[in-house]
Amino acid sequence: MQYRQLGRSGVRVSEVGLGTGGQWGGLVDQEAAIRIIWAALDQGVNYVDTADIYGTWYRGTSLSEEYVGNALEGIRHRVILGTKGYNPTGEDVNDWGASRHHLMRALEASLRRLRTDYVDLYQIHKFDETTPMEETMRTLDDMISAGKVRYIGASNYAAWQICRCNDLAERYGWASFITTQAHHNLLEREAEAELIPFCREMRVGLLPYFPLAAGLLAGRYEPSEPPPPDSRAAAFERTRRYLARYATPEGYAALQRLSAWADERGHTLAELAIAWLLAEPIVACVIVGASKPEQMTENAQAAEWRLSPDDLAEIERLLKANEDEEGE
Ligand SMILES: NC(=O)c1ccc[n+]([C@@H]2O[C@H](COP(=O)([O-])OP(=O)(O)OC[C@H]3O[C@@H](n4cnc5c(N)ncnc54)[C@H](OP(=O)(O)O)[C@@H]3O)[C@@H](O)[C@H]2O)c1
Repeated sequence: MQYRQLGRSGVRVSEVGLGTGGQWGGLVDQEAAIRIIWAALDQGVNYVDTADIYGTWYRGTSLSEEYVGNALEGIRHRVILGTKGYNPTGEDVNDWGASRHHLMRALEASLRRLRTDYVDLYQIHKFDETTPMEETMRTLDDMISAGKVRYIGASNYAAWQICRCNDLAERYGWASFITTQAHHNLLEREAEAELIPFCREMRVGLLPYFPLAAGLLAGRYEPSEPPPPDSRAAAFERTRRYLARYATPEGYAALQRLSAWADERGHTLAELAIAWLLAEPIVACVIVGASKPEQMTENAQAAEWRLSPDDLAEIERLLKANEDEEGE
């Protein structure tokens, strides 16, 4: 495993990290969570990503944070641990958002579930249009001063929102966002228009999520076949809706071309999807979800594959072959 700086901080994270959303709390129970975390550590993975919303869909509390906290008992120091706050945690009008009121309570609850007294990377899950940015940034800076948070990150923010927040932080001498999470993979390229150029310029580390398009880029689903019974799409209507956006006839045709190209080089489609993300230097860590230890092991090994500029051009050509055919 190789390591990269987490944005412009001094801390290093593994190029592949472990995401604990999806089936954590359902198919992934506490025992499975421990096995997956150990599979990650065995491969040199040191970044684990969770959120106070993950696993709440099974039982109204973040089972993902609980499982991660239990699994890290005694080995907490080996992991750079990221969690997130913003999403609703209760019925009250103030039980969501990036206000001081909500974030302070959300962080305390995350720390309790994670059985730790600090989070390495505390991320605001989504931009809150109703809370002044100064209030959020000042609150995050206070969390760092209190020793409960080491670094802060954004998630699902537009480039201008991170830019404005970090400018305010700089003006007042507060900590600024060192990372952001964004939906980015071979099939979802919107981040390339503005966010990635901004991150490169300002050295904000990118943590791409859905790197495998929820399993589609790992060959988990076949066209016109029902999802495998142990898969995420079988478990969640929202995963089926997500897949419907990308699992089109054109999407599958592109995946077939990419799979064959990876196979000729002795790699899988999942390895290609991860290696492609790592070809972008501003990517600090690719957070890949795993619901089985062997998935974690395979994903961690993808980081060994370095794509050349010629490879990247060929991948682009294979992705766009559908459009070329339509244009002819
Ligand atoms: N900031 C945000 O708003 C946000 C949003 C989404 C996700 N995230 C983070 O990003 C992480 C990754 O995203 P994700 O888990 O949603 O999607 P993902 O990484 O694109 O896909 C993970 C799924 O792909 C399948 N998979 C993984 N490795 C595989 C392999 N080697 N072979 C075959 N199948 C494999 C598994 O599906 P099955 O379970 O069906 O086997 C797994 O659940 C999350 O866990 C979370 O930490 C953040």
